[in-house]
Amino acid sequence: MPPDTAASPTPKPETPPLSTPNSPSASPTTPLSSPSSTRSPPTKQQPTLLFACARLINGTPTDFPQFRTTLLDQWHDITPQMQQRRTQTNEPARCAPLYPLLSALPQPLALIEVGASAGLCLYPDRYAYDYDGTTTGDSTSPVQISCSTRGPQPPTGHRLRIASRIGIDLTPLDVRDRDNTNWLRALIWPEHHDRTARLNAAIDIAAADPPRLIQGDLNERLPEAVAAAPDDATIVVFHTAVMPYLPQWERHCFVEQTRHLGVRWIAQETPKALPHITAPDPDPRTGSVHLLSQDERPIAHTAPHGDWIHWFN
Ligand SMILES: C[S@@+](CC[C@H](N)C(=O)[O-])C[C@H]1O[C@@H](n2cnc3c(N)ncnc32)[C@H](O)[C@@H]1O
Repeated sequence: MPPDTAASPTPKPETPPLSTPNSPSASPTTPLSSPSSTRSPPTKQQPTLLFACARLINGTPTDFPQFRTTLLDQWHDITPQMQQRRTQTNEPARCAPLYPLLSALPQPLALIEVGASAGLCLYPDRYAYDYDGTTTGDSTSPVQISCSTRGPQPPTGHRLRIASRIGIDLTPLDVRDRDNTNWLRALIWPEHHDRTARLNAAIDIAAADPPRLIQGDLNERLPEAVAAAPDDATIVVFHTAVMPYLPQWERHCFVEQTRHLGVRWIAQETPKALPHITAPDPDPRTGSVHLLSQDERPIAHTAPHGDWIHWFN
């Protein structure tokens, strides 16, 4: 499961408890368990958060014993990081499934991304795309995204024009701040070198022309973001890998609100995240998928990190 979708607000029961750091009795065979004074609150008991914080502090471990030693020796440094941070993986390749929908809308577009993290998905016009040999987007871009297709080829003929880029997030990450970019890199699994290279290139694009990032809850700040969009553009509210972070009633509020805003609405979320948008079951051999929808109509199944798309007829 990708790091961000693993970040369910509900702790996973199998999450191993962590333990007394620097305990003299701790040995490679001692089970890890933590004193209640250092136990994280349930919303912070996320493996992804732990792995990323450990890596942020001590780099990528070479093997499990080294990782374990880092946890035991540096637990008092790691836990404050876990309190302070949240899983905010920002994956620009998620723009590949968005591009066919965005480019088919009347241009220019006023993009509003809720749950934007650093807002790297607000630059779909600045990236290059290759859908099994069919290329589109900005061919000169340092962000090259390959997206394999299953089923019909998605329509990619049109060009995008973006009039404005607004992101809303509980903790927006300004990529001009090195601490934020280090955190975004730490959230990518160490062996995913291509994703890290793409992230770095997308960070450079956003840093040179930053989006407007609004700090706050997406339900509370969305009307303000819509009001700030230019009048002569098609307003598109979109979100990718965000709904699992919201309790059901907040998702319900978001659905009701967005329906009545007079905007176009694109979602790329786990299939059950918005259960009223139904689609054929994905192939069970596929592993985790996202469901792409437009204005509450199912459009495609997509890879959680955007590397394939199965367009429906
Ligand atoms: C996994 S990240 C996805 C980032 C980006 N959409 C992407 O796909 O690359 C989820 C983001 O949603 C944000 N988020 C979660 N709940 C939120 C809320 N109620 N209001 C605003 N943002 C929220 C988190 O802070 C995080 O940055």
